[in-house]
Amino acid sequence: MLSPLLIFVAVLLLAVHSLRQLLSSPLNKIPGPWHAKFTTLVLKWHEFRTNRTRYVHHLHLKYGRAVRIAPNEVIFASAAAVKEIYCSGGSGYDKTEFYDMFKVYGKRTMFTTLNKDDHAKRKRILADRYANTNVVRPQSLDGIADRAGNFVKTCFQSVGGSLDLYVRLHSYAFDCVTHHLFHPNGTDSLLNSKDEEIMREVTFDDSLQNRLFQYYWPTAHKLMGKVLYLFAKPRETPLADDFVLDTCALTDTAPFTLLNRLQGPNYNLDALDVAAECLDHMAAGIDTTGDALCFLMWELSQPRSIHYQRELQRELLTNAGASFDKLPYLDAVVMEGLRCFPPIPMSLPRYVPAGGRTIDGFFLPPGTTVSCQALSVHKMDGTVFPEPDAFRPERWLEPKGDAERKRLFFAFANGGRGCVGKHLALAEMKLLLRAVYSRFTTLPDASMTAADMDMSDQLISSRPAGQRCLLRFDPLEAVGGD
Ligand code: HEM
Repeated sequence: MLSPLLIFVAVLLLAVHSLRQLLSSPLNKIPGPWHAKFTTLVLKWHEFRTNRTRYVHHLHLKYGRAVRIAPNEVIFASAAAVKEIYCSGGSGYDKTEFYDMFKVYGKRTMFTTLNKDDHAKRKRILADRYANTNVVRPQSLDGIADRAGNFVKTCFQSVGGSLDLYVRLHSYAFDCVTHHLFHPNGTDSLLNSKDEEIMREVTFDDSLQNRLFQYYWPTAHKLMGKVLYLFAKPRETPLADDFVLDTCALTDTAPFTLLNRLQGPNYNLDALDVAAECLDHMAAGIDTTGDALCFLMWELSQPRSIHYQRELQRELLTNAGASFDKLPYLDAVVMEGLRCFPPIPMSLPRYVPAGGRTIDGFFLPPGTTVSCQALSVHKMDGTVFPEPDAFRPERWLEPKGDAERKRLFFAFANGGRGCVGKHLALAEMKLLLRAVYSRFTTLPDASMTAADMDMSDQLISSRPAGQRCLLRFDPLEAVGGD
């Protein structure tokens, strides 16, 4: 039997060893709150309360561009760190197991592959479906323009009342993304009467706490089983699962679609791989584009920004025949919207590779979790973005500082693992904004409060806390068309 003295000595040795490790960690040189040296609990507390991004931003404002936020985790907010973490070697450092939470049908998709090689294999297959040349093909672009036209019809129907943009914009994004993924030859639209239910299932998801719990404490999650469901809903998407599985059985899809490419004979993807990739892109393309437009149109509707809305209307009305990507003010408005309200505002975690790396002057041992979050990258450098919290589209029109602004623009991340859907998203955003602001002035509905539009973190994206965004649409003639 072990004597109490032996146990005491063993515990003491363990404590001394842990203390030595703690005191000699290279991360000790990095500023941060005192508790970050010992525990992840404070960080987790904020994650569970949908507040991680704002908490981390507050730490950046307090401690600077490099902050230790947990015993083994450091976050940066600089162009140099973005380049090192996300672009070195092409696609940057490998992803952490955080991305396991996003597996679909139990399968890894391009987004959830962790290492470079697996990622490169999948990306080689599908990247050209999202190249700008593919997005601007007439069949692809006309489909988006038609959907923007349908959105405008809904705006006209709402005149005299208000429209909940949060729901409508997500439906628009859903409709556009399914068009790009699945559009069958010879038909107009795939969607059936269940389309809004499917969109709601994918988008209006309240499973954050359940999924985080499962990620951090898998055994407890298993043991607690259904009891946990009473407090924290699991993610369940039966309609979307069926919709995508059924749709992926189509065989005659338009050449510009993702499905058309994934079904190619040389790629060795089974039916579930194809469906998983498609469902993942569907999820990736709805919240992001929907929320980006929602936050941006809300801002443009505020009295403080109405002159920007007027300037946008002026550009659109005086260049009615111009292509959507040849309108500098529209581009500036979109860039500033994505800078101020990045739909994926939070950390994109990666592991420091073997041998360790120096980032922003700090040496980090291998296996340290490092990241940047768009919200802080966009708002920490007042020389590149003066008055960083202010929405000021004209900053993007100044030739001076253009390269620096672009280097710090992180809404679509950066490097080989940056957003593959960027061109599609920009086309959707610009076509919708052009369709709306060449016809209407938008104003906030009186029932809305600023709290409704507070940023609420989800697993990787964020959404308006109130999950509503009521705007009024006044046809331009009614306000004098100025
Ligand atoms: C304004 C809209 C959008 C924003 C702000 C956005 C942002 C991002 C960001 C930040 C990432 C990197 C995530 C990470 O590293 O964890 C990403 C990746 C990705 N996005 Fe987007 N996204 C948008 C729209 C779209 C659309 C429309 C699609 C497709 C329909 C899409 C598909 C993807 C995919 C598949 C990835 C994974 C790329 C890879 O791992 O190589 N996104 N997006």
